[in-house]
Amino acid sequence: MSSKLAKYDRLYEQIKSYILTTEDIWARLATMEAVLHHKMQSFFWTGVYVLQDDELIVRSYQGPVACQKLRHHTGVCWAAIRSGDTVIVPDVEQFPGHIACNSKSKSEMVVPIRDRNGEVFACLDIDSEQLNAFDKEDEAGIRKILSLLYD
Ligand code: SME
Repeated sequence: MSSKLAKYDRLYEQIKSYILTTEDIWARLATMEAVLHHKMQSFFWTGVYVLQDDELIVRSYQGPVACQKLRHHTGVCWAAIRSGDTVIVPDVEQFPGHIACNSKSKSEMVVPIRDRNGEVFACLDIDSEQLNAFDKEDEAGIRKILSLLYD
């Protein structure tokens, strides 16, 4: 196993122990954001946007102040929400329609979050100040951690 996957596994165990005190998914997501943001050095912004009346509204985050509402149907978060798939952007300047909440963000990964019925209702957005910061291992690690939501 790579050192990055091993690190995600350690964070998974840590987060699992923290979140067991409540089934509230917003509390669980906030805890995931806090642990991930402070333990993964390349994470510059870590937060959740939630679908509300066909808008994407920020729910909770760690990092600098970011957009409260994302312009309709453009950018990386909307791409992940609409496709239902993780979107990894190695260079945000190359992503048509990318929404720049902070000019320091250089690369980004957005993972859709599903409810118990499998419907996408939100996304976890992670930005980095480094180009090309995210790969399939990050996706696997984050998806495994998100699977704890309904544990
Ligand atoms: N870059 C995102 C917007 C959210 S910020 O990165 C915090 C997007 O294009 O959807």
